[in-house]
Amino acid sequence: MNDSPATCPFHDVAADQPATRHSPLVAVAFAVAGLAVSGVTIGAVELGWDLFVSRAGVVVPVVAIVLLAVGICAHQLVARPGEQLLQVGDRPWPQIPRAGRRASPGPGRVRARPVHRRDPEPAPETPGSDAIRAAAEEFFELYHAENPQAGWLGPRLAAVMREIDLTGTYWHTPEELAFGARVAWRNNARCIGRLYWRSLQVRDLRTVGDAGGVARHCFDHLRAAHNGGKIRPMISVFAPETPNRPAPRIWNEQLIRYAGYEQPDGRVLGDPRYVSFTRELVRRGWQPPEVRGAFDVLPLVVETVDEGPRMFQLPSQSVHEVSLEHPELAWFAELGLRWHAVPVISSNRLLIGGVSYPAAPFNGWYMGTEIGARNLGDSDRYALVPEVAQRLGLDTSDEATLWRDRALVEINRAVLHSFRSSGVSITDHHTESRRFLVHLEREERAGRRCPTDWSWIVPPMSGSQTPVFHRLYDSELQVPNFFADPDATTRALHGTPPAFR
Ligand code: ARG
Repeated sequence: MNDSPATCPFHDVAADQPATRHSPLVAVAFAVAGLAVSGVTIGAVELGWDLFVSRAGVVVPVVAIVLLAVGICAHQLVARPGEQLLQVGDRPWPQIPRAGRRASPGPGRVRARPVHRRDPEPAPETPGSDAIRAAAEEFFELYHAENPQAGWLGPRLAAVMREIDLTGTYWHTPEELAFGARVAWRNNARCIGRLYWRSLQVRDLRTVGDAGGVARHCFDHLRAAHNGGKIRPMISVFAPETPNRPAPRIWNEQLIRYAGYEQPDGRVLGDPRYVSFTRELVRRGWQPPEVRGAFDVLPLVVETVDEGPRMFQLPSQSVHEVSLEHPELAWFAELGLRWHAVPVISSNRLLIGGVSYPAAPFNGWYMGTEIGARNLGDSDRYALVPEVAQRLGLDTSDEATLWRDRALVEINRAVLHSFRSSGVSITDHHTESRRFLVHLEREERAGRRCPTDWSWIVPPMSGSQTPVFHRLYDSELQVPNFFADPDATTRALHGTPPAFR
């Protein structure tokens, strides 16, 4: 039960609460007086008036009064016992509708109408409300520290707290959203490509919450991010999770993924990672191409609370692929391999200041080893190493010939060569490792920690040949960030269970 509601000059005293606290009113009075005097003083100084008091003699006490008022306010807002930051995997609020609360009003302002509480008692505080307040406070401190042009922290934070009081959530400004998304990338310990975090293009699609709209904008995202081969890092942020309306979910792990079909002989045609997902989509009515292949693009599945899961075939203009050939080995092209140009991760939840965006697909460009060493090389993916080794005429009877390593190098050369010669952005692991160290240096100079997971950053081949191998990193979790929630991962791999049943 909330027996000490947030009271601050920017909040109403709840209609059913006795107005027992006077400090907010005092704070208002001080703030107004302080601002008025300082406004007049600054105006006067700017106009060059011949003041008979020194500038410092006026400004110092005025600033002191304002700080006192803001301090009282901030204390009221912030000092809440038992607050906790959101943890990985936490839901910021339960999925139960709460009486007397309204959803965020969407873009624009908080509704000005007073909220009439029907229940005689103040609405119980959900654990989610405390968590969102703490997370919002942490986010806005960061946002205002890194964006001095954004104005004062205090008034914005107070407005956000009030919006949380009224609605259980709040609406980021487009600037806050863009900053949050970029910092989520900057904070993501698994990404080696973070040097370019500031360049992330943010598509604000928070008013889009229906399955058809989400799918359509995802297809646009693929086209815009591909950009004729000069890939643009991009994120599309769809409707957020709110207390009375859950956000849409994209089931697929990425917007473009290849089907995996189990063959009668037990082998897999296509991507073995998605055998289970493919089976489930077929069960739900997806019809694979008449002649099945190793690179059949799966439909996009978007689930909303109203519509349930819906499947959408990707339009061909959105699916850019590169056929793989080797710079020297002519037979390589005969393998009929290809890969999609843009990796758009679509099952991660973006978390900014306590607000969750479960549908927020984002992309960078590929590093060659992701395709050549992992997707095509892993023994539980396309597992091409033995066949390539055989074609190369290597002695596969003895591990010590390093036939695996030699075949892997040739597959990776083919990937880098093919992307380059078809004009699609790609990077190699040596260059990207060096860039990452530049990023680390910059972050350090900016006085920030750069959470980094060694096991994800060190490339999957020739690790010791890259500088990222030879050092240790900070590893603590920082938000904003992207989260791979276990239920979303299960859905991305198995197409079940649905998010809303
Ligand atoms: N490793 C994933 C894949 O092979 C892509 C992950 C994101 N990669 C990126 N370069 N942004 O499809």
